[in-house]
Amino acid sequence: MNKPKAIIFDAYGTLFDVNSAAEKSKNKIGDKWEAFANYWRTTQLEYTWLRSLMHRHKDFWQITEDSLDKSMKVFNINKDMKTELLNLYKKLSPFSEVKETLENLKKKEMKLSILSNGTPELLNELVVSNKLDAIFDDIFSIEEVKIYKPDSKVYDLPVNKYKIKPNEIIFLSANTWDVSGGGNYGYNSVWVNRNNTVFDNLDYKPFKEIKSLQQLLDIV
Ligand code: LAC
Repeated sequence: MNKPKAIIFDAYGTLFDVNSAAEKSKNKIGDKWEAFANYWRTTQLEYTWLRSLMHRHKDFWQITEDSLDKSMKVFNINKDMKTELLNLYKKLSPFSEVKETLENLKKKEMKLSILSNGTPELLNELVVSNKLDAIFDDIFSIEEVKIYKPDSKVYDLPVNKYKIKPNEIIFLSANTWDVSGGGNYGYNSVWVNRNNTVFDNLDYKPFKEIKSLQQLLDIV
């Protein structure tokens, strides 16, 4: 492809480690912390898809809390942990290579943006608490269209704002279904496959597959 005009990142799971909230409480949760964190994440995503299909929108923070309530019941976690886990979710850690890679990309002349299910407030807090706020040109939130990924109205947001074509965008996600969603929409979707997993069968094969964001520097 020609030089991309924009590089768009998914946030949760791609830039920021969604399991890091439960991990920081693992002394209190015990050995089940990782299974619990995975269940919480899966339930949270299911709620985004189900609410979109039902046309019963709630924002991502409310969905995060609703899915946490269910997950804490399933894993028998003390109710007192709820506030702590929610507070930790507001300050998720980025993956180790994220900051340096973004700083290197910033030197190239392309838009760098986030496109996420998160609310503008949540995304802003994540970016500011991790000192990444100077990097991004825009933070696109699905709250602008009140429907979750992979609805095409979400993937339209940067295309409409930058007045560019979908295939002038490189979109990065670690979430396979989001890679397929963006790819079927027309982006060049790059799969960040940190954990060596298997890709989906949703009629799109990733434009590229990388193991860490650092490898993006070889593509652009
Ligand atoms: C997001 C979810 C998909 O940030 O991780 O949009």
